[in-house]
Amino acid sequence: MNAKKFYITTPIYYVNDRPHIGHAYTTILADVLARYHRLMKVPTFFLTGTDEHGQKVQQAAEKAGITPQQHADNTVVRFQELWKKLEITHDDFIRTTEPRHKAVVQKVFQDLYDRDEIYRAEYDGWYCVPCERFFMEKDLDNGTCPDCKRPVDRIRESNYFLRMSKYQEWLIQYIQDNPKFIQPDFRRNETLGFLRKKLNDLCVSRPKSRLNWGIELPFDKDFVAYVWCDALTNYISAVGYLSDDETFRKWWPASVHLIGKDILTTHTVYWPIMLKAMGVELPESVFAHGWWLVGDAKMSKTTGNVINPMDFVDQYGVDAFRYFLMAEMALGQDASFTEEAFIRRTNADLANDLGNLLSRLIKMIETYAGGVLPAPGEPGEDEQQLRASAVASAGAMETMLEGMRLDLGLAAVANVVREANRYLERKQPWTLAKQADKQPLNTVLYHAAETLRIVSGLLYPVMPGKMSELRVALGIEEKQPDINSLKEWGLMKPGTKLGAMQVLFPRIMAAEKKGDSLAAVLAKKEVKAEPTGVALVEYADFQKIQLRTAKILAAEKVPGADKLLKLQIEVGGETRHLVAGIALHYDPATLPGKTVVVVANLKPAVIRGVESQGMLLAASVGKDLRLVTVEGDLPSGAVVK
Ligand code: MSP
Repeated sequence: MNAKKFYITTPIYYVNDRPHIGHAYTTILADVLARYHRLMKVPTFFLTGTDEHGQKVQQAAEKAGITPQQHADNTVVRFQELWKKLEITHDDFIRTTEPRHKAVVQKVFQDLYDRDEIYRAEYDGWYCVPCERFFMEKDLDNGTCPDCKRPVDRIRESNYFLRMSKYQEWLIQYIQDNPKFIQPDFRRNETLGFLRKKLNDLCVSRPKSRLNWGIELPFDKDFVAYVWCDALTNYISAVGYLSDDETFRKWWPASVHLIGKDILTTHTVYWPIMLKAMGVELPESVFAHGWWLVGDAKMSKTTGNVINPMDFVDQYGVDAFRYFLMAEMALGQDASFTEEAFIRRTNADLANDLGNLLSRLIKMIETYAGGVLPAPGEPGEDEQQLRASAVASAGAMETMLEGMRLDLGLAAVANVVREANRYLERKQPWTLAKQADKQPLNTVLYHAAETLRIVSGLLYPVMPGKMSELRVALGIEEKQPDINSLKEWGLMKPGTKLGAMQVLFPRIMAAEKKGDSLAAVLAKKEVKAEPTGVALVEYADFQKIQLRTAKILAAEKVPGADKLLKLQIEVGGETRHLVAGIALHYDPATLPGKTVVVVANLKPAVIRGVESQGMLLAASVGKDLRLVTVEGDLPSGAVVK
């Protein structure tokens, strides 16, 4: 990436509502992109804020029995607090009720009016309050708003209009000549499709008699500015347009306006034409992302399925939430948000793969190397391969960021984590540790640690908190990684003392929130029975059950329970206890050292006062019972599938 600067914006959010997951998504995405650019040492400016004028806010305030300003002051806090909680690093937060913004909007209107880009005329047509937009009769969809399909109001009034129609041909040409301007490509086609119909001039005022919560037009005190013209202007008023030339020259044009797909027309038709009329350069690109659905359904207050990001973060932590949103949505497409999908991805990518890699590595370095990073020997073929993948993932991430496919960049990093886990399993450091020559062991430990350094740097913009913890645990001093350091191998210094490690991402037990057991959750699903009476389960359901190999470290009888043994087991570097009903079949003394198979993600249960953290698999016929084990020697923690 060789951009000289990076200026990214989010839409400014209406203050008539509580922030939901859609708002959180755009803002986290902008934050992650801003953080990556900072790692690349590109001067970055990240702007977000709130859209505080207009009919919706006025109506919400009336309903609450307070002034619109009070209403805005009350609700803006919800956004600001959420951004704090989500660790958003915006450089500015603009509110459209601030004097610095209002002054610019007024200057823009005056200038456009003086140059006859704005004129007064009689308007007779239809108005959609939720969208704050006018429509001609011919634009309506069966008498309803063509955008949101809600009823529209008939309106006849005098108003001011922007000469939008005269720029129609210019805009079509501009969009065709600048394919990067509207992204993804299919959204560009959508806008071009919209521009095939004749463009009307845009009504840019509202008479105060109908709506007074807005910015007064400087040339006519009876009108306020149309809220969309007011709102869009935030992108330039915040960076010094008509108030601070130096700042404006530094940041404008914006590198990318991130928006949701529903506000494409305002950003790719109204806004470019407003700028053209002002004589201001256009933003480099407008990127429209898809929508989060809840399951398959649209999120809506009426359905009551609106996901509150605050609740989610309180329950599961900010980093896992940020990671899920970034990894799960293919940028541009819609994506489905469910708690189940969240739990599945968090457990798979973060708890099992990344967290497990770190905890087993720290444990091994502690056990085999006194907690100090050992010096590697000559790399073999496996090491060369791992190095190449780790370093390549930094390049892949950069390329994917340029193409706005963060999800694919994250998938590349997740692959390297899995590769490192497989590398450890193949190399078996626990076996190498028994050899007199420690060089092979040290080489493996170093390569796994160095891979984690690179991975943690690449994931830092997405999970700043957890990746900082990880880097501290690895003894890395550099707090914020530099992207170039992630393309280089061998920067960790042998002899570095490693920190202590807690579990980075605790596994989430399915349906923990509702207190249901995993089995109960599965039982609620539709399960078709075969004629023989054997229930068929979906593969997706089977995947929820995580089977892993475990090594039995110790076994003893549970006092007062004939059938129960308490086992201490090791699952991929993690020690757990479980209670198994096998006392009548196995002498505890014969068990240590055996490799068994356990359900690793079963909700813990207290049995006879002992917390059982998993379940052992055994096969039984009549009175015979045998433990399920694996053929040959496999390390503990291996996935059984
Ligand atoms: N105030 C205007 C934007 C003015 S920008 C100059 C606005 N505000 S909004 O609060 O209604 O919506 C802000 C953003 O949230 C939009 O980009 C919209 O696409 C996004 N989302 C609303 N629901 C969403 C989902 N379910 N999923 C993803 N984003 C969604 O529009």
